[in-house]
Amino acid sequence: MSMKRKTVMSGMRATGRLHLGNLWGALKRWVAIQDEYQCYFMVADWHMLTTAYDRTEGLGASVREMVLDWLAAGLDPKKCVIFLQSRVPEHAELYLLLSMITPLSWLENNPTWKEQLQELSKTKHGLALGLQAPEAPSGEADESLRTHGFLGYPVLQAADILIYDADLVPVGQDQLPHLELSREIARRFNTIYGKGGEVLCEPRAMPTEIPKLLGTDGRKMSKSYGNAIDIFEEPDTLRKKVMGMYTDPTKVRANDPGHPDPCPENPPGCSVCALQKLYNPDWKTRVEDCRAGRTGCVACKKELLSLLEKPFAEFRARRAAYDAKAVDSILAEGSARAREKAGATLDRLRRAMRLVS
Ligand code: TRP
Repeated sequence: MSMKRKTVMSGMRATGRLHLGNLWGALKRWVAIQDEYQCYFMVADWHMLTTAYDRTEGLGASVREMVLDWLAAGLDPKKCVIFLQSRVPEHAELYLLLSMITPLSWLENNPTWKEQLQELSKTKHGLALGLQAPEAPSGEADESLRTHGFLGYPVLQAADILIYDADLVPVGQDQLPHLELSREIARRFNTIYGKGGEVLCEPRAMPTEIPKLLGTDGRKMSKSYGNAIDIFEEPDTLRKKVMGMYTDPTKVRANDPGHPDPCPENPPGCSVCALQKLYNPDWKTRVEDCRAGRTGCVACKKELLSLLEKPFAEFRARRAAYDAKAVDSILAEGSARAREKAGATLDRLRRAMRLVS
């Protein structure tokens, strides 16, 4: 008896090269589940336009760089569907249909949107948003985020997910409000067009256990802080970054006792230790040695570097196996496969909505 494999759908905005936070937070999970589930993994290039619509110069390169990192991390285009959002125009049609039934209040109350607006109100984007002085300089107007598209971000995301009849969506904590909205939109669609039955499948979050990972400066690893270690770091820069990592400011000499974990003496905890925990099977000994003043930070960093050597060499080798042309053809093939499924779902939805086909 064969059970139908469950469908997984997830995506990342096309932000270019990925770092170890992305690797441990999302990619490793994707790689681990690609055998077990029917997986659709999407490069969300349209979502980039919701905020950076006036900065599209580097978008093509960002898409390719990110897919290369996916492949280097072990995603296999034979096992999963790797595709580009803008090459599957069916998403846009479903986005439009869903936008008809999505109450504005759901979007205006979306915590992610509100937070982003708040953040932006502190920047010059905020001026353009009209969140500060109404006499904001008109030169900023093209940076405005008071757009239909930015407010509709989660509706587009709902379309991305619902069009594949996804059962499960592996996402981080920050994306849970968006996923909840997708579920609510699906329910509303079913209430209006489902005659009591289910037309759209309600996706569930696949919670990801995200290990705590700090950037080189002790803050959360993030591209925008400039503290990230890329998955595809060259040996030279890798060495420089690791040797310059934030440790424990109270551990001045090698034999001073250290505070590797977050504590009053070292609130963020040690960045090197956070990586030791991921890459060193024997990290517990290292932590004890640090606390007892038996190892110094330089030795600890050198050890970490040697532990990173093998996985990083593997990334480089896998990445080198693909060139831009190979990436383009993987995306073209994946997008064609995605369109088959997306098209079939749309046919079903058009019928449910009694649109003439
Ligand atoms: N919003 C997601 C992010 O910022 C990206 C995304 C777009 C996504 N569409 C999706 C994630 C569908 C999961 C499913 O990371």
